[in-house]
Amino acid sequence: MVSSLLASISISELLLASVIFCLVFWVTRSSHQRVPKGLKSPPGPWAWPLFDGYSLAFNPDSGEVWAVRRKLAQNALNTFSVSSSPSSSSCYLEEHVNKEVKHLIQKFQELMEGVGCFDPYRHIVASVANVISAMCFSQRYEDHKNPEFTTLINASHEFVESATSGNPVDFFPILRYIPNPQLQRFKEFNQRFLKFLQNTIREHHKAFDENNIQDITGALYKHSQDKAFGNTSSSVPEMLIINLINDIFGAGFDTVTTAISWSLMYLVTNPKVQKKIQQELDTVIGRDRWPLLSDRPQLPFMEAFILEIFRHTSFVPFTIPHSTTRATTLNNFYIPKGTCVFVNQWQTNHDPKLWEDPSVFRPERFLSADGTVNKALSEKVILFGLGKRRCIGETIARWEVFLFLAILLHQIEFSVPSGVKVDMTPTYGLTMKHPRCEHFQARPRFSRKG
Ligand code: HEM
Repeated sequence: MVSSLLASISISELLLASVIFCLVFWVTRSSHQRVPKGLKSPPGPWAWPLFDGYSLAFNPDSGEVWAVRRKLAQNALNTFSVSSSPSSSSCYLEEHVNKEVKHLIQKFQELMEGVGCFDPYRHIVASVANVISAMCFSQRYEDHKNPEFTTLINASHEFVESATSGNPVDFFPILRYIPNPQLQRFKEFNQRFLKFLQNTIREHHKAFDENNIQDITGALYKHSQDKAFGNTSSSVPEMLIINLINDIFGAGFDTVTTAISWSLMYLVTNPKVQKKIQQELDTVIGRDRWPLLSDRPQLPFMEAFILEIFRHTSFVPFTIPHSTTRATTLNNFYIPKGTCVFVNQWQTNHDPKLWEDPSVFRPERFLSADGTVNKALSEKVILFGLGKRRCIGETIARWEVFLFLAILLHQIEFSVPSGVKVDMTPTYGLTMKHPRCEHFQARPRFSRKG
């Protein structure tokens, strides 16, 4: 068969094929940056001459305008999350989380009185989305009143499944022009979400009063006229605001949801750990009030549990893709300018040189002999990225996860019926998810006073 195939190819066709091969080889070699003497190329696939260093995900810009916008987003975010709320003694974040956990506990109780067991995931998604939505545009959504919002937040897995490292489109940008159903779903989800935000933000703008700023959107509108915002055209700021809110919303709700839902999975599979957290809560807080953000330093075991959840799940296994802005070296490897790079957070969090028995789930590893959190060890957990593109919501995220869990565990004991096997196998993605479990049970620990 091979000989008949060869016979059917003419000499000129063979010559033409050889010339094309040599040409591709030469272009590839010459486009490849030379590795300086004494250094080597990192191990990995051979680079095709199709890389331009631009990742699909997010923004390749890291210059001055980007820095100003990041600062603006960070200020607006902090003002309407961890700063004090004028209407109460707590901060905005604490107010919003309190409200949402109350609804969540009520929902779990209704489900227990009804079917007697439930899958907590979609209820956590709605609660966390409502917290970020309250911070962004002072709005909370009820399932039945806003089906569009519910559909969108429940479809967010389409975003994280596609926007993950190792996506071939990151390495071969030309692939974006080839039909790809996953990429198509990713684009459609983004467009629907942006449209939803655009409508919400436009609606919000109608009531804009620069002397009474209530949320992040309001703060961004107020600053959108600043020169520092980096704009000249009057039509640009709105699109920028929509995109900044999109970043904050997108980055801030799926991650926190994933942290809380993984925590519940570990709690029902490690009932002794759950008991220990609840004993700590009872000792420090008692039963007459709900936990507050200010209780956090007095709850080291709860803190150790959250750190171990971050480390053990490493549910953001890689950061978002970045591109090197100049040639550099790492461990004697030469990394040319424009290379697509990620931080492998999962590897660091499971490195046997840093962690004893890295695959074992053991919150106690973070506690010193005197029962306080071992600060030096806690700083070795990497989940929020590194460097100048690291997460701007880290403080909010740590506080939010703490408060959700502290109130939930203070009020409720979670379990699954004996004999139910809980599958903990993660699904790979930008954020790694656990399989859904519909066998959760929630038992109130005592009558509610919050
Ligand atoms: C447990 C929760 C969270 C985790 C694990 C997490 C993790 C991350 C990671 C790994 C990055 C990428 C860093 C990089 O590529 O170098 C990131 C970026 C980002 N995060 Fe978070 N995040 C969390 C919560 C939040 C929250 C609550 C917000 C906002 C309310 C937020 C806003 C952002 C933004 C805006 C970026 C992009 C920063 C930039 O590109 O300059 N994140 N986050």
